[in-house]
Amino acid sequence: MDLRHWKLEVDADQVAWLWFDRAGSATNTFSQEALRELGQIADHLAGMPPKGLAILSAKDNGFAAGADIEEFTKLASPEEAMAFIRLGNEAFDKIAALRFPTVALIHGFCMGGGTELALACRYRVADDGPKTRMGLPEVMLGIVPGWGGIIRMPPLIGAANALDLMLTGRSVDGRRAKKLGLVDALTPQRHFRNAARTILLAPPAPHRPPLAAAATNWPIARNLVASMSAKKVAEKVRRDQYPAPYAVIDLWKDFGGDVRKVPPDHPASMQKLFEHPTARNLIRLFTLQERLKGFGKAGTDPGSSGKPGTDPKSGEPGSVPIRHLHVIGAGAMGGDIAAWCALKDITVTLQDLAPERIAPAIKRAAGLYKKRLKQPHLVQAAMDRLIPDVAGSGVARADLIIEAIVENPDVKRKLYASIEPRMKDSAILATNTSSIPLQELATVLKRPERLVGLHFFNPVAQMMLVEIVEGPQTAPEVMKAGQAFAKQIDKLPLPCKSAPGFLVNRVLSPYLLEAMLMLDEGIPGETIDAAARDFGMPMGPIELADMVGLDIAGAVGRELAKPGTPIPKKLMENIEAKNFGMKTGKGFYTWVKGKAQKGPAPPAGTDLKPLADRMVLPALNEAVACMRERIVADDDLCDAGVVFGTGFAPHRGGPMSVIRARGKAELLKVMEELKAKHGPRFEPDSGWERI
Ligand code: NAI
Repeated sequence: MDLRHWKLEVDADQVAWLWFDRAGSATNTFSQEALRELGQIADHLAGMPPKGLAILSAKDNGFAAGADIEEFTKLASPEEAMAFIRLGNEAFDKIAALRFPTVALIHGFCMGGGTELALACRYRVADDGPKTRMGLPEVMLGIVPGWGGIIRMPPLIGAANALDLMLTGRSVDGRRAKKLGLVDALTPQRHFRNAARTILLAPPAPHRPPLAAAATNWPIARNLVASMSAKKVAEKVRRDQYPAPYAVIDLWKDFGGDVRKVPPDHPASMQKLFEHPTARNLIRLFTLQERLKGFGKAGTDPGSSGKPGTDPKSGEPGSVPIRHLHVIGAGAMGGDIAAWCALKDITVTLQDLAPERIAPAIKRAAGLYKKRLKQPHLVQAAMDRLIPDVAGSGVARADLIIEAIVENPDVKRKLYASIEPRMKDSAILATNTSSIPLQELATVLKRPERLVGLHFFNPVAQMMLVEIVEGPQTAPEVMKAGQAFAKQIDKLPLPCKSAPGFLVNRVLSPYLLEAMLMLDEGIPGETIDAAARDFGMPMGPIELADMVGLDIAGAVGRELAKPGTPIPKKLMENIEAKNFGMKTGKGFYTWVKGKAQKGPAPPAGTDLKPLADRMVLPALNEAVACMRERIVADDDLCDAGVVFGTGFAPHRGGPMSVIRARGKAELLKVMEELKAKHGPRFEPDSGWERI
């Protein structure tokens, strides 16, 4: 056999060892060629046969990341997609049909097709370290697990557990996988050979789920479990916008989980899912996410091509990780940025005006670590890395200083002037400002080239994006180091030009403003929020403003408002009364235990589309203006930034993608109508001409 992506060895005990080692890639993904080879190997082994087969990965980062998305996106037709699906099924079915025991040895990530291959084996052993992740995240790409995941996972761990994983796309660590029965044993990776040998040479009975879990698969329970799952999905997403989770349920209930049995015109068929714009948009966003990650790699060009390249003057900027971070301002943002970075193994000193201002941040950090790290010794280690520092002694030691104090240029400048002389020569100063152009802050600095914007989003632990803001004086290597830092802490860097609001707030502001003006007109907040959710936003703008903080929303709005823009009255009244939203318990809504207390939803049949248009079109118009000003390098980055920074309806693929889908002519017509009714703030930007 001539193998490019697999290595097969048979040892003296007649145990076969099959290493997945995708050629030309640091990560194992299933290309058509890799699947074809796997099928050949299975045929070959079936004819031999060995005493047992262990499948493992030759890559450091994990077992397998699933289908090769690049190859998948190049498939031109639903028929080609179906052929790819069949190829995977044939290979995995052959592995499942082998008469001798088989075991998958899993370390690192084991996602999608990786988990489906593991499920085709009789046994699974996983590395017990924190990096092990297993899951079937296909719904996040608008498709379904098509290589036997829906067939094999429910009988193994119970339908309720399996559907929960498949419908949310959530991944689990090794301990959770063992608890669920998804893996049979946990052991350090260095013991894989012994563990496999023990299982293959004296095979135990394969795992069966406990009776209660098994019962969820029985025909009598099937309809009930399916309808309960569909109800849960419906609370989050609509079928016309996100068909994939509904398709998973239909597939499991009516087709035994086998995508090959679904008629092509059925809404759960791979063909229908593949043709749906949601799959196209979500897969594109996934590839854009990879592109953003690429900006954080040492020596990556932040230009539109995303091609690697090193800065000849400075070698490989960003190749040295930040070891010591100093954060100034322990408020909502600074406190959470510090906590997040300590979670990501960085020593962090946290400064504020008084110890009692730092204490709440430390308390929030403890909550985050308990939730994320679970094991007490890991929680303790993270707490030890987060050091309160009222005196600011960390300034002199830090590789990076992030300023997150009040949004006031004078106060910020005064602080910079006082800390710059104490900073290490190699240190970088970053500001988390939401709206102040960097050039306005840099005036007091002797080395303005070392100032960069690192604009995080609220809540820090959940929002993936960080805008890396380039002032006119920011040195290229400082930009690159900022991008590398974002990658180091597992966030997505988006290089932006320094103009008020950068990209994300600038696009979001006119949308929020319009929502608040609608509120002033007497349209209930619940109706406005419902209209935005109907469009596909994860949260309505009125609730979002309350969550961000009306003081912040007001300050950013003031900074970004164009001359002549009306000022929202209810917003001002709330700010005057110090009703800032969630954090004070009252804003547009009353908040109890972190939840907005909403009145009744708009009556069924209310036409929400005109309301959504009125809010969304100003955001699209602003995106067009940003692209005219080249705030980010291209349309793809604009879409990625707005989706990852605001949650903008992911199934629609971002503002520029909405413009392409609905068409310029129709959108401009609606804008003219809105302008006639509501005034010049609906004037189309001159940037529409290039679209
Ligand atoms: P905050 O008001 O919650 O916290 C600011 C903290 O800075 C306070 O604890 C205050 O005591 C401290 N502080 C003020 N002057 C100081 C000084 N001279 N030295 C040390 N500490 C000082 O404010 P928040 O919301 O955390 O915002 C901070 C920065 O982050 C602002 O520039 C804001 O525009 C930006 N930002 C805010 C976002 C949000 O959603 N809240 C999102 C992204 C950026």
